[in-house]
Amino acid sequence: MIIRPRRLRKSPILREMVAETRLSKDMFVFPYFISKGKNIITPIESMPGISRFSPDTLMADVEKGLKVGVNKLLLFGTGEEKSENAKSSHADDTVIATAIKMLRKQFGNDLLIITDVCLCAYTTHGHCGILDHDYVDNDKTLEVLVKMALTHAEAGADMVAPSDMMDGRVKAIREYLDKNNLVNTGIMSYATKFASAYYGPFREAADSAPGKGDRKTYQMDFRNGNEALREAQIDEEEGADIIMVKPALAYLDVIRTVKDNTLLPVACYNVSGEYTMVKTAAAKNYLDEQKIVMENMHAFARAGAGIIISYHTREIFEKGWM
Ligand code: PBG
Ligand code: ZN
Repeated sequence: MIIRPRRLRKSPILREMVAETRLSKDMFVFPYFISKGKNIITPIESMPGISRFSPDTLMADVEKGLKVGVNKLLLFGTGEEKSENAKSSHADDTVIATAIKMLRKQFGNDLLIITDVCLCAYTTHGHCGILDHDYVDNDKTLEVLVKMALTHAEAGADMVAPSDMMDGRVKAIREYLDKNNLVNTGIMSYATKFASAYYGPFREAADSAPGKGDRKTYQMDFRNGNEALREAQIDEEEGADIIMVKPALAYLDVIRTVKDNTLLPVACYNVSGEYTMVKTAAAKNYLDEQKIVMENMHAFARAGAGIIISYHTREIFEKGWM
């Protein structure tokens, strides 16, 4: 007798029935880059199909996305004045706060709005925190991050997503939001964020590349899986509502480990470099875009991600790939 797992693959109906991983539209978050100004739609060269929008043009694009079901957004502010102390990150009239208010006014609770909280697009040197000589000062950075998070929460964000990788920032933000009566604003923590070359295209999009040095003194070493879990556990203890792993494709093992060791929802960020690799290869017909994208999305879910942040989201929905 031969044991035959292939029996379960005999027909499409049977394969559907026994599929272990299923994607749902509820899992997908779509990132947007918001630019200061008016009437702006700037295609980002390194990310084919993705553009930067000013708040006014953003409204029309979000409305189009909503029609196909894109209702969870992750917003990045760009184009604010840069300074050593990143003071424009938490001004009252930041482009990101303006965009949040406009979205909320126009779309109410039809949209879930998440915002990236980090200083790299607001500092002259492009690092994610405040520098003390050549080193990012963790605790000084916390004082600015909490203010930035508060401006987003006050503008109406549902969740803030700190991506700076300072120690203690989840706790600091949680306490600051609570103190200001924003107890219902959630925190999606970029808990395990690796120092990665996969962020290359994003830095063009957000104009946030460090002028000098790299991010290895605060982002994680990609050789370290145990440390990834430790970071996730600390953020859980500090009060994170959702734990994120980033990047995603080269870190499926980390997604799985984190998933197996937390009761919180786990998200993964399918980052700019991962997106651009697929788009450029597909443009040359070196691979089938729909198939490769959907294979990747299933891989994230199989690894344990219940939430997928991806630049492919809009296209997947528009083209009915799922
Ligand atoms: C800012 C931030 C980065 C990304 C998200 N937030 C870039 C970085 O840390 O250099 C990367 C997202 C992507 O590549 O799609 N800290
Ligand atoms: Zn940053």
